[in-house]
Amino acid sequence: MSCIYPIGGGKGGIGKSFIAANLGVLLAKQGNQVVLVDLDLGGANLHTFTGMTNVKTGMEAFLDKSVKNLKEVVVPTNIHNLSIISSVNCSMEIANLSAAQKNKVINALVKLPYEYVLLDLGAGTNYNTLDFFLSSYEGIIALTPEPTSVENAFKFIKALYFRKVKQVLGQNDFKLYSQQVEMNSNALEVTSQVIDTVLEKDPEKGEILLQELQKFKFKFIINQFRKTVGTKLGEKIEKVCNKHFYSEFQFLGNVCYDERVHDSIFSKNIFVNKYSYSVSAIDLSHIVIKLQGNRESSSPHTLGRYERL
Ligand SMILES: Nc1ncnc2c1ncn2[C@@H]1O[C@H](COP(=O)(O)OP(=O)(O)OP(=O)(O)O)[C@@H](O)[C@H]1O
Ligand SMILES: [Mg+2]
Repeated sequence: MSCIYPIGGGKGGIGKSFIAANLGVLLAKQGNQVVLVDLDLGGANLHTFTGMTNVKTGMEAFLDKSVKNLKEVVVPTNIHNLSIISSVNCSMEIANLSAAQKNKVINALVKLPYEYVLLDLGAGTNYNTLDFFLSSYEGIIALTPEPTSVENAFKFIKALYFRKVKQVLGQNDFKLYSQQVEMNSNALEVTSQVIDTVLEKDPEKGEILLQELQKFKFKFIINQFRKTVGTKLGEKIEKVCNKHFYSEFQFLGNVCYDERVHDSIFSKNIFVNKYSYSVSAIDLSHIVIKLQGNRESSSPHTLGRYERL
């Protein structure tokens, strides 16, 4: 069964594509069949992180129905065991997917014959991005230690939760319950208040909602970490999230800031290959060990299971 990891986060430029590409390479180097999928349809650049310049086919051919099967647009990279579905040739029109197209992509992703499928998502909290993220129980949230990024990560988690609660309850029920709590507050507690209200007013529905939320095992990575920042930031965020939300949150680790990331992109070399002994590359390899540890101890139920939205 494939393991699907969407990589998202509210903010732009935090390193989602960098993390996706480099984790992909490390997993591939261990002998796993890995495919990277660029789902940042309006700002695709995952191909550049893997050193590719001329990508002939990709997501656009699947979306405009030139090919039937998503498998047909998978392109090998020059790294053994690592392939990519690029979105570099997607037009602006294609980038704004309809709900039907989004579901088509999600349903096709689960059928890809790879051990690991890594989804590189765009910034922001638009519905397509949230739905791509929520279509696996094992999403990875990227952030940097800056307060603005931490704030956006919380906003992203809140948006994910509201989207999921809305999906499970249906539009009308959601409105009813959400009106009963302080919707104008930005506090994290609001999210759990909606769920608590459902549990109280309609225990049967509340139970279904709770069970659905408890299937999620969100993970997060602090990228561009600098020694000057409190080293316990990740643990603190993990604690806050586990307290306020009904899903499990796991801090996977910090990835140090390294000037050479910039150089590796310019020279079209993948960072973990060119600077394999750097602190940041070692940080990333520790994250891979954690992910693989999770995989061994997880039930098949939670491993990248996709469902129709
Ligand atoms: N650990 C790091 N150390 C130093 N620089 C980094 C690191 N991670 C990412 N960067 C820099 O940050 C830039 C943004 O990274 P990246 O493109 O992966 O972010 P993103 O979240 O995918 O952005 P977008 O939202 O635009 O897709 C990169 O060009 C790279 O130079
Ligand atoms: Mg990106």
